[in-house]
Amino acid sequence: MVSDETHVVTDDGSYGTKGLVTDKLKEVMAAGKVDYVLAVGPVPMMRAVANMTGPEKIKTIVSLNSIMVDGTGMCGGCRVLVNNSSQFACVDGPEFDATQVNFEVLMQRNNMYREQEKMSIDRLQADPAGELDRLRLKNHKYECAAEAVGVTNE
Ligand code: FES
Repeated sequence: MVSDETHVVTDDGSYGTKGLVTDKLKEVMAAGKVDYVLAVGPVPMMRAVANMTGPEKIKTIVSLNSIMVDGTGMCGGCRVLVNNSSQFACVDGPEFDATQVNFEVLMQRNNMYREQEKMSIDRLQADPAGELDRLRLKNHKYECAAEAVGVTNE
């Protein structure tokens, strides 16, 4: 058995307990032995979890959500620093030992396209069908260009 308890925590309390994951983790750690933590979610949350479990020597795995473009280890978009070594989350992870992850670099890299992401969300919200058509057309142009130079997805 891995665990016999589930604790749900949400920022606004709309489901489970209102609060932070780290509040519940602190409570669970204080109540008994924790052997293993798997953190999946926003980078600041994973970093906060790692900061709590690391000093207690609790094995902690994080699932990194770095920016991915091709998902094949070729583009370098998902590069993360783990144990001071460049790793690609798409092929080397996405799960890594939390104590080895440089979360500051990950946060910097994830913020690189914040403005473009916001612009895309704004366009999508303003005109969902139009934006999806625009993205499909853009993707089609890339596929045609790739075909022209002999690159296929197969
Ligand atoms: S997504 Fe391109 S190298 Fe990982």
